[in-house]
Amino acid sequence: MEYRRLGHTDIKVSAICLGTMTFGEQNTEDDAHTQLDYAVEAGVNFIDTAEMYPVPPKGDTYGRTEEYIGSWLRSRGHRSRIILASKVAGSARDLSYLRHGQVRLDRVNIEAALDGSLKRLRTDYIDLYQLHWPDRKTNFFGQLGYQHDPADDPVPIEETLQVLGDLVRAGKVRHIGLSNETPWGAMRFLQAAKELNLPRPVTVQNPYSLLNRSFEIGMAEIAHREGLGLMAYSPLGFGVLSGKYLGGKQPAAARLTLYTRFQRYRGRRGQLATEAYVSLARSQGLDPAQMALAYVAARPFVTSVIIGATTLEQLASNIKSLDLGLSPIVSSGIEEIHQENPNPCP
Ligand SMILES: NC(=O)c1ccc[n+]([C@@H]2O[C@H](COP(=O)([O-])OP(=O)(O)OC[C@H]3O[C@@H](n4cnc5c(N)ncnc54)[C@H](OP(=O)(O)O)[C@@H]3O)[C@@H](O)[C@H]2O)c1
Repeated sequence: MEYRRLGHTDIKVSAICLGTMTFGEQNTEDDAHTQLDYAVEAGVNFIDTAEMYPVPPKGDTYGRTEEYIGSWLRSRGHRSRIILASKVAGSARDLSYLRHGQVRLDRVNIEAALDGSLKRLRTDYIDLYQLHWPDRKTNFFGQLGYQHDPADDPVPIEETLQVLGDLVRAGKVRHIGLSNETPWGAMRFLQAAKELNLPRPVTVQNPYSLLNRSFEIGMAEIAHREGLGLMAYSPLGFGVLSGKYLGGKQPAAARLTLYTRFQRYRGRRGQLATEAYVSLARSQGLDPAQMALAYVAARPFVTSVIIGATTLEQLASNIKSLDLGLSPIVSSGIEEIHQENPNPCP
């Protein structure tokens, strides 16, 4: 396993982070524990979760993923070996079951969310506490164009940071991170942290894959210049980049077969790009999913690739992708496809 520095901290995290949002929905508690054991055995020390998981989010499963991780931490006694990342939900549109539907990144919400997460995770601290998505209205979750809403009245970034600063001082949180952020938001957080002597975000968790390299446009420079490493989520575009949905296939028990509402990686341009990436991988004797993950891991602004798996076979293969070096033929083939059809699934 390869380890990389978490922002400006002295913490080393594995270049593969275990994503957990299937735990409690597609994966049982036993599956979750088996995956966690396997990943740790393979050298993974970085685990990503969120108060809101599993996905798709629902009132009756809210918090279940953290509970499964908590029961694993309790039974294995691994807490000090793990860099545990969780998230507080951002301003919520459709989480009516959560905090009376009044979800904001303010003191009342963040403190309640963190206390709930600590309880479920059966720990007294979280290594990396992330803001799952911004409080303000902006473009994330697949929206490319920014549309300004003059009536938007977000919680000020300074206020959110102040609360996080208090939680760091209280020892409940070691470091903070952003997620689904834009360049404007990332820079505003960094600037406010500096001016107010408050904790500086160490990571940003945004989508990044062969089907969505929009991070390179405005965020990659920030990642490099400000030491705000990317935790790349959905590196396989929900599994699409494995090629298993090509030709109209609907594999049993697979995410996009089960949940038809997930359309982000399903458009026509996405399908064309996927065909091209899959055929490039196969022409070079590579597994398409491993090629896609190896590509993400090799980007210099990436701290860790957050992989997701619903079977142990997927997990083993995905972790092994780190051993794959991409040849000049593969690398230039990827660039050609990207130039031809850039960011088909933002
Ligand atoms: N911050 C955010 O807003 C946000 C958003 C999304 C995700 N995340 C984080 O990122 C993690 C990973 O995201 P993701 O699950 O969307 O990642 P992904 O890599 O795009 O998709 C993972 C899914 O693809 C399928 N798959 C995985 N490996 C495969 C393989 N080798 N061959 C074929 N199919 C394979 C599996 O689903 P099936 O078996 O069902 O096909 C698996 O659950 C999440 O668990 C979460 O921690 C964060």
